[in-house]
Amino acid sequence: KIIVLDFGSQYNQLITRRIREFGVFSELLPNDVTAEEIKEQGNVIGIVFSGGPHSVYAEDAFSVDPAIFEMGVPVLGVCYGMQLITHMLGGKVEPADTREYGRAMIDVHETASGMFKGLSSEEEVWMSHGDRITAIPAGFEVTASNAHTPFAAFENKERRLFGLQFHPEVRHSVHGNDMLHNFVFDVCQAKGDWTMDNFIDLEIAKIREKVGDKKVLLGLSGGVDSSVVGVLLQKAIGDQLTCIFVDHGLLRKNEGDQVMDSLSGKFGLNIIRVNAQERFMSKLAGVSDPEQKRKIIGNEFVYVFDDEASKLEGVDFLAQGTLYTDIIESGTKTAETIKSHHNVGGLPEDMQFELIEPLNTLFKDEVRALGIALGMPESLVWRQPFPGPGLGIRVIGEITEEKLEIVRESDAILREEIANHGLDRDVWQYFTVLPGFRSVGVMGDGRTYDYTIGIRAVTSIDGMTSDFARIPWEVLQVISARIVNEVGHVNRVVYDITSKPPSTIEWE
Ligand code: XMP
Repeated sequence: KIIVLDFGSQYNQLITRRIREFGVFSELLPNDVTAEEIKEQGNVIGIVFSGGPHSVYAEDAFSVDPAIFEMGVPVLGVCYGMQLITHMLGGKVEPADTREYGRAMIDVHETASGMFKGLSSEEEVWMSHGDRITAIPAGFEVTASNAHTPFAAFENKERRLFGLQFHPEVRHSVHGNDMLHNFVFDVCQAKGDWTMDNFIDLEIAKIREKVGDKKVLLGLSGGVDSSVVGVLLQKAIGDQLTCIFVDHGLLRKNEGDQVMDSLSGKFGLNIIRVNAQERFMSKLAGVSDPEQKRKIIGNEFVYVFDDEASKLEGVDFLAQGTLYTDIIESGTKTAETIKSHHNVGGLPEDMQFELIEPLNTLFKDEVRALGIALGMPESLVWRQPFPGPGLGIRVIGEITEEKLEIVRESDAILREEIANHGLDRDVWQYFTVLPGFRSVGVMGDGRTYDYTIGIRAVTSIDGMTSDFARIPWEVLQVISARIVNEVGHVNRVVYDITSKPPSTIEWE
């Protein structure tokens, strides 16, 4: 496998994901793992140092165990990673006058070996760095450069150490994927025979080792993520797993019954359904701040677990369907908080459980592939993502029963029509939101003063970025007419045409 060491770049998990797409197992590890610990992992054929936002010469800069360079395993340093190699092996890194950010052309030198195989002498890449390398360590040679960045790439052929000042994992680096592919196959000599089945075997082994003969509790939300975790855990530890399905009253129409039917019925998961609508509503009464709502819902979720768990004997673990995107957007050691995602942000500090989060290295599409590999039906696996706080963050501002009902009914119509028109696999996520203001309309002969419904429909690969879906006008027109006619107190429907960034997918 190939280890990626984490120096805090938003892109670092992308590197592991690209490598897994090549059919080679890859895992992100903290930068302070020692060479010894890496050796213990067994079968490590390459190491990548990721990018990161710091300066290598800063006092608290992230570094690595120098013994890693002596392991005889190829190392690729990306951006910060390259600067770190430079800094540690006797070169020089200095602050640059201007930050280099965006597309850049680089000249690839003829002498460049493996990394640039099959590429042209000029390549378009994505740069993002504040510091620059001003002298490279002895034994290294420059393999790519341009006027602004004389050391855009280097290598030490003999020791098999490589550096790229740009980000090959980002799509804007046109042939970046080929460079990573070259590193993985030419330099590290990977076989490329890893599949989701290997991931399942590995995770099952990890879960069994961690859990032993203890009991695990899983919060089922009805979404893809927790369902996949449930089925995975069921395979790993069978009836040591108890699922608690908290119906917080913020689910989509009929969702609760569907979850029970499929997971308890077909997959035989042991599920306790808790109807906690009133508990959540009373906690949320009068609260309109999005972050506060998220925290309340997240916390209440765990309290409900606590209450249920205390009725069960000896449960030690709490499993969650946290994805990599949930973690990165809730802020890691270095990344900034955008929204505190339910699964991460809401946990109280005195929580009595130890966490199991088997999906926390995966992106959404990888979770779907995992679900299919686990034998789950497409209807479940291809369910669109649904946030933990549910409709609670789709009623903007204060949540009331009336508003929830409007969102739930309008959402059901939207989903029905998207399916009727065969768009449910093209549009990645689609839902309605209730902004909470009212406006004037006319219905029959009368003036109305009612709510607006916003339709949000996006295309995305992993939820990190998205574009608004180009739903045909005719379909939108049918949806709009049905919502206004069938849902009480709605007299206007608008379509959200922003991408992420600068928007986010959810409105709160
Ligand atoms: P945003 O709104 O951050 O959403 O662009 C990105 C994706 O994440 C989902 N989302 C959540 N998922 N817990 C979750 O499990 C949450 O608290 C949460 N908030 C947003 C969102 O629906 C979209 O798919």
